[in-house]
Amino acid sequence: MIGAPPVFIEVEKVLIDRTRIAERVREMADAIAHDLEQELAVDLNSPEAEGRVVFVPIMTGAMIFTADLVRELPFKLSLGLVAVSSYPGESITSKGAHLASDLPADLKGKHVVILDDILDSGQTLSLLHKAITEQGAASVRTCVLLSKQVERVVDIKPDYQGFEIPDAFVVGYGLDYNGYYRNYPEIATLKPTVIADGSSEGHG
Ligand code: IMP
Ligand code: MG
Repeated sequence: MIGAPPVFIEVEKVLIDRTRIAERVREMADAIAHDLEQELAVDLNSPEAEGRVVFVPIMTGAMIFTADLVRELPFKLSLGLVAVSSYPGESITSKGAHLASDLPADLKGKHVVILDDILDSGQTLSLLHKAITEQGAASVRTCVLLSKQVERVVDIKPDYQGFEIPDAFVVGYGLDYNGYYRNYPEIATLKPTVIADGSSEGHG
C-alpha cells in the first residue's frame, strides 16, 4: 500500500498524480519493448538480443522515471548514464544544452533508447540524439515522460512521450527546481513565490 505523498508546502498544484504516472510508464514500457523486438527481429530474451540494447538516461532528471520504466521491461538491457547541463541555477528557461559528462562507451552497433524527464526547448534531446548517432549506434530512440507545449528551439519529436503539459515549470518525479523537489512523487507546479527570476546553481 502506497501512502500519501510527502507534504511540501511549496507545491502549488499536482498536475499528474503517481497512479497516472505509473500506468503511463507501464504503457510506454510495453510500446518500447514491442518496437525493439520488431527492430531486432528476435525475441529480446534470446541470446541473439543480448548486449544489443542500451538505455541512456539523462541525469539527474531522468533518474526516477528510468528506475520505474526499466523495471517494467522484462529483458536484458544495460544502462549508460549521461549528464547534460542546461538550466543554470534558479533560472527556469534553458540556457542551451551542453554535455556535462562523457558519453557511455561502446554505443557502436547498439540499439539505444535515450530517456529524459521532460522535453522543453528540444536542445538536450537533439544534442544527445546527434552525439549518439555519431557514435555509430544501430538505432536511436527518444523517450520522455513529459512534453511541454511550447515552441521548440530545435524541432524534435520524441518517439515516446508520457504526457503533454502546458508551458509551466514543474517539479517532482525526478524534476527539480534549484536541485530540490526531485523526491516529490507526483508532477506538480510550485507556488510563484518560490521561483526566483534570478541566477546561481544548477538543474538537470
Ligand atoms: P530542453 O533542452 O530545453 O528540452 O530541456 C530539457 C531539460 O531541461 C530537461 O532535461 C530538464 O532537466 C530541464 N527542464 C525543462 N523544463 C523543466 C521543468 O519544467 N522543470 C524542471 N526541469 C525542466
Ligand atoms: Mg535534464
